[in-house]
Amino acid sequence: ARRVVVLISGSGSNLQALIDAQTHDRLGGEIVAVISNEHDAYGLKRAHEAGIEAVALPHREYDSRDAYDGALIKVIERHEPDLIVLAGFMRILTPRFVQRFLGRMLNIHPSLLPAYQGLNTHARALADGVASHGCSVHFVTEELDGGPVVLQAELAVTADDTVETLKEKVHAREHLIYPIAVQWCLEGRLQFSPEGAKMDGHLLPPHGMC
Ligand code: GAR
Repeated sequence: ARRVVVLISGSGSNLQALIDAQTHDRLGGEIVAVISNEHDAYGLKRAHEAGIEAVALPHREYDSRDAYDGALIKVIERHEPDLIVLAGFMRILTPRFVQRFLGRMLNIHPSLLPAYQGLNTHARALADGVASHGCSVHFVTEELDGGPVVLQAELAVTADDTVETLKEKVHAREHLIYPIAVQWCLEGRLQFSPEGAKMDGHLLPPHGMC
């Protein structure tokens, strides 16, 4: 089976969606380890309960970003993954780390990229009064939240939406699209190329598939 390592920092609801997809044979591979930079991340519990190796690798125990990423590379490579999946992993990655896994690493981001890269995406979208918002799965490159988009889910922002309701709506969409994108990757249908993401050999538009 194709091997997946998932990196998390928190609740791990996206991790749970991936675990559930695996349970129903819809992931196209096996999650062989879950690694968190926060030792008390709830996602580690989810992994443990699913019988998946759960590793806490606290960044606070390392002197530099480079030292931490070096340690992280070692732990990841021990599991010989075909794909690395960032699921709420709230760390900026060093170029060395990104280069090591280029084309084999996906992230999910709570906005319709390229809009709202970075943090607090829901609050910023609300403040701008946007009519629609959503989430994006993309390949990770050295440009923060800037790698080629693979798949997006768009939703309508309504007059009564708050950061909390928006966050909840976006989360629900994330849980739908992330397992699909991971499955496409593991089946070899989805590929990274320097010009952009490719699906079945065809270059995707900049916003990926909606
Ligand atoms: C998700 O909404 C994900 O898009 C976001 O963190 C959340 C993690 O939730 N990621 C980022 O903001 C990355 N910069 P989860 O732990 O419940 O999966």
